[in-house]
Amino acid sequence: MTTILRILRFTRTLTPYYLAIMAAAAVVTGAGIAVPFITGAATDVVVDAVGSVSNGSGIPDGAIRSVMLLALALLAASLVETVVSNLGGYWGDVMSERMRTILSTRYFEQLLTLPQRYYDNELTGTIVARLNRSITEITGFMKTFSNMFVTMLMTTVAVLAISAWHYWPLALLLLLAYPAYLWLTAMTSRKWQRIEREKNEHVDEASGRFAEVVGQIRVVKSFARERGELDRFSRHFGETVRLASEQSRYWHTMDAVRRGVLNLIFFALYAMIFVRTVMGHFTPGEMVMLIQLMAMARQPVQNLSWVVDTAQRAAAGSRSYFEVMDLDPAVVGGPGSLPRSAEPASGEGADRSAPGAAVSFKRVSFGYDERTEVLGDVTFEVRPGERIAFVGESGGGKTTLVNLLLGLYRMRSGSIEVAGAGTDLASLRSSIGVVFQDPSLFSGTVAENIAYGRPGATRDEIEAVARRAAVDGFVSKLPDGYDTVIGERGMKLSGGQKQRIAVARAMLKDAPILVLDEATSALDTRSERLVQAGLDDLMRQRTSLIIAHRLSTIAEVDRIVTLRDGRIDEIGTPAELAESGGIYAELLALQHSASRADRKRLKRFDVIG
Ligand SMILES: Nc1ncnc2c1ncn2[C@@H]1O[C@H](COP(=O)(O)OP(=O)(O)O)[C@@H](O)[C@H]1O
Ligand SMILES: [Mg+2]
Repeated sequence: MTTILRILRFTRTLTPYYLAIMAAAAVVTGAGIAVPFITGAATDVVVDAVGSVSNGSGIPDGAIRSVMLLALALLAASLVETVVSNLGGYWGDVMSERMRTILSTRYFEQLLTLPQRYYDNELTGTIVARLNRSITEITGFMKTFSNMFVTMLMTTVAVLAISAWHYWPLALLLLLAYPAYLWLTAMTSRKWQRIEREKNEHVDEASGRFAEVVGQIRVVKSFARERGELDRFSRHFGETVRLASEQSRYWHTMDAVRRGVLNLIFFALYAMIFVRTVMGHFTPGEMVMLIQLMAMARQPVQNLSWVVDTAQRAAAGSRSYFEVMDLDPAVVGGPGSLPRSAEPASGEGADRSAPGAAVSFKRVSFGYDERTEVLGDVTFEVRPGERIAFVGESGGGKTTLVNLLLGLYRMRSGSIEVAGAGTDLASLRSSIGVVFQDPSLFSGTVAENIAYGRPGATRDEIEAVARRAAVDGFVSKLPDGYDTVIGERGMKLSGGQKQRIAVARAMLKDAPILVLDEATSALDTRSERLVQAGLDDLMRQRTSLIIAHRLSTIAEVDRIVTLRDGRIDEIGTPAELAESGGIYAELLALQHSASRADRKRLKRFDVIG
């Protein structure tokens, strides 16, 4: 019930549609209720006429006119019903579409505000499956509800009033039928919902895996895992079949009981009407009317079960939807995982940082969960225009530094300041251009991907950065040049080509701070040299944080920060660190060694000679 109120509140803007649909339903119901009265009246006229014809007194005056008028009244009632029910249907369609728009947009909006932490724990397919289910179930419910609610109410009241007027025990028996039915339905509800939830979990898990498999089909095929993936998928769906049959068996058993009870009550009603007509208390016309009325009385009761059924579905289907909507972006994932809000390097922050630091990390500690610490007490500063490189073991927290700088997670303690960044995450991020380890492109064209950070960029601007990032060379060979569609996540390109587009994308963003997280790791030596020339040119004008995988690149920076066990080991110029005997010196020594063990050790630092 609370879920339903929630849905109503959530889709408040649709209230005019609900009301219009209800009004249409009211007119349709009114036309429906008129029918028994008309046929009842016609029966009385006919019985009368047949009586006088068989007495030999001929057809009574105006009898034909009366039945014709009544027949016309029936026509009018059905015409009204036809027109208005279609009108209601139209409103219903528009309402569903609007509702879908509202539910999808809000969901997407909420997902976009949720921090990275949320996505670390969710599967894409699950997120999509949830949305689809909620839309189907909620829309279905609101349609049924607005269509049936007024009808149910009006029919119930009309039937009760009319039967009470004619013979009160009829009304009394009917009054008994409703609560009995409702009670039995409500009893069914809880177990039904529990099973539904289980079913949904299976569907969500299967859909999540499904999307992953489709997205990485190459891996699936190369490891010959099609069978295994299929089995896993069908196991989940097999479970839903088992659950559905349990659920349905239960529901239909309960439904049989409910309807059985109803049948008994209606048996009593019909018996009363027949007997009282035979005894002369009702005219045949009244009997016809009452019988039709009783048939109508059955409908609201049955509709009630429809409404309860779709309400159950809506409640179960929208549960996980609203769980996502209820997530507070500031609380997701518990402490230590929130995006921090960037503090500008001015005011209070400026006092603590050295004057003019472009980026400063102060005693930053962080872990992705409570148990482990990835970074501990990390403090360093990057001066404007400086190039600084980070060196540390693979898994040592270099990418994590980038994640924190971008405000993707909240630190456990400490602070990060970025000069020129505003007070919100969006402005912080707009001042940082980043090339990730994984290029992460989108399915559009090459040009669209390059312009992702600056949608208004002209073709000339795009082509200029493309030249600097050595993208133009391979793009000229693509069938449609810059308008070539590159497939999901850039599937149709090689790793190195993707990386070059990612570099061009960061170049076009033209942000004051540049972050390169192994930006050229997928390039061969020749194209790396080409891209590196463009990057060098780019870095000249800005502060750069570089996680390089090539010692030659690292050797050219202004300062190096080495990380050991999540802590800073040394900070110094390449020349200083080459002498100090630390990680960098060790790497330099290893570089010239030919032994296999030494090369292996280099690899552990994500570094090649
Ligand atoms: N999203 C994540 N959730 C949990 N742990 C993570 C996540 N990303 C990275 N880690 C862990 O944090 C540590 C540092 O990773 P990372 O910063 O990517 O290292 P690298 O120095 O190779 O870039 C690793 O132990 C890794 O397993
Ligand atoms: Mg990394």
